[in-house]
Amino acid sequence: MGLGAATLAIAVLGVIVWLTFLITQTRVRRRREPPPQNLGPTFGDEELESHRLNKILVSAFLASAVMAIVMPVYYLNESGRQVAAQEKFDEIAEERGLHWFEKFQCGNCHGIEGGGGGAPFIEARSGLTTTWAAPSLNDITYRFDEDETRYWIVFGRQGTPMPAWGVEGGGPLNSQQVDELLAYIDHLQIPQAEAVAAVDGKVSREMTRLTGADDAVAATASTIEADIAALAAAPGQYEAVSGLPARLMNILSGSITCTTESAAAIDAPCEDESAADTDRDGVSDAAETSLNVLIAEMLDSAPPSESTSMLEGIEFDPNNAFTTTNGSVATPDLIQIDEVVAEFENIERTLRLTIESRESLLATALTGLAFVKDAAENRRFAIDYETIAAAEFEGNLADARRGAALYNAFCARCHTAGYAAGITFTQDAGSGALGPSLRDGRASVQFPDEQAHLDFVIKGSVAGELYGLNGVGRGWMPGFGTVLSESDLRLIVKFERALR
Ligand code: HEC
Ligand code: HEC
Repeated sequence: MGLGAATLAIAVLGVIVWLTFLITQTRVRRRREPPPQNLGPTFGDEELESHRLNKILVSAFLASAVMAIVMPVYYLNESGRQVAAQEKFDEIAEERGLHWFEKFQCGNCHGIEGGGGGAPFIEARSGLTTTWAAPSLNDITYRFDEDETRYWIVFGRQGTPMPAWGVEGGGPLNSQQVDELLAYIDHLQIPQAEAVAAVDGKVSREMTRLTGADDAVAATASTIEADIAALAAAPGQYEAVSGLPARLMNILSGSITCTTESAAAIDAPCEDESAADTDRDGVSDAAETSLNVLIAEMLDSAPPSESTSMLEGIEFDPNNAFTTTNGSVATPDLIQIDEVVAEFENIERTLRLTIESRESLLATALTGLAFVKDAAENRRFAIDYETIAAAEFEGNLADARRGAALYNAFCARCHTAGYAAGITFTQDAGSGALGPSLRDGRASVQFPDEQAHLDFVIKGSVAGELYGLNGVGRGWMPGFGTVLSESDLRLIVKFERALR
């Protein structure tokens, strides 16, 4: 007998013993325990098939019928319900987004409807206050995808007036609030056809900007020169003006010219109330005549300002209780003198403050003027169309001009230093700002193949994706394929390739 057969015999024996054990156990239990209720005797058919059974069957039937009707209706509604809930959700997000847009005044810089605008900015090198162009947001989805736009909102843009708004960037908005802003910005988007139709208007604006550049820079220089001249004249003017408010008080409260009312107007007593007041308006005849002389003296000495233009229209008439300035409503003389007192004090105070900070104001103005003169002389904003046309446009000047204008309209704010700050601050085309410099044929080095250059501009950069020879995308370069035609994009690409 083999080992296998022995093991089998033992196993079979074991099973038999085990089964016997089980069977005897059940028998034992059955004998001891009462049968469970469901196995015991129950209602007979006569008892069951009664009124009660019918009631149960009818209610079961009704319940099934209700389910049979409700389920399909619920099912049919389900897809619509999802869409409606999503719509409602988006609507609420948009509304909240509008709230943030207003609360954080995005519209002050970007335009109320997101159509673009500007922000006051002090340019560091020149110390000049200028307006920094803020891009339109109502076409941003044609440039950036949602994550890219979110990045700018969260982190802002260093070195420009665009602050960081997300908490990660040090701003006030959490990520849900930024999502809501994005929903609102999405709602602001103009149709693509409109964005495309706006291109030619932008191009002609850029052409005008370049044609008028020299005049614009010269005008800035003249404004600063006028400021400097005003600073030079201020001490002399202050000398002439500083005594006038006191003389005005003296006319209103001094003997011979005062009345109780005119003195009270400047919180002073009038010692001698004998002055004649023909028109009985509370300002004596002598005072009215002297006031006219004093105002004329003030206008002679003070630099033109809002205050002097207020004073210009005022002339008192001893026979008329009212003065009518520049066709405005007639004002009682006693009230008019309040105005005169206020403007005299304004003029005196403004000149005093100007003189106090004259040295620093003058230094700032001179730095600014030197900067502007340099801009006027070196004309870095100017574009040498002939060279550009010869390099890439087979001598076609019109194409070179359009290429340059398109570049300025869509690319310069990121690829030309100082462009967004205005013509005076604009450096050489392609000198680089947020985007890399494109000068010295840089674009042709990055993209030896013109078509690859064009494809890149159509698509833009993608965060973490390589491009060209050694470019590493951060998703900061927008794609322009949805707004600019291929022929316009080609002109821009050629223009960039011509930059030396
Ligand atoms: C003080 C002015 C100012 C305010 C306020 C402001 N922005 Fe900006 N924003 C700018 C400027 C300027 C730029 C362009 C910076 C540059 O030249 O690179 C900009 C750029 C952007 C950009 C990138 C757009 C692009 O095409 O380059 C987005 C997006 C943006 N802002 C959204 C917002 C939102 C949303 C708000 C409100 C929460 C806001 N901004 C408030 C001035 C402002
Ligand atoms: C919002 C700013 C912005 C605008 C507008 C912009 N660019 Fe750029 N561009 C960039 C940035 C930033 C890069 C670098 C890639 C990155 O960081 O993702 C870049 C890269 C490039 C490069 C590759 C340069 C290199 O050497 O790596 C080219 C070419 C280019 N841009 C062309 C254009 C053209 C053409 C336009 C206009 C149609 C334009 N850009 C508009 C920001 C901008």
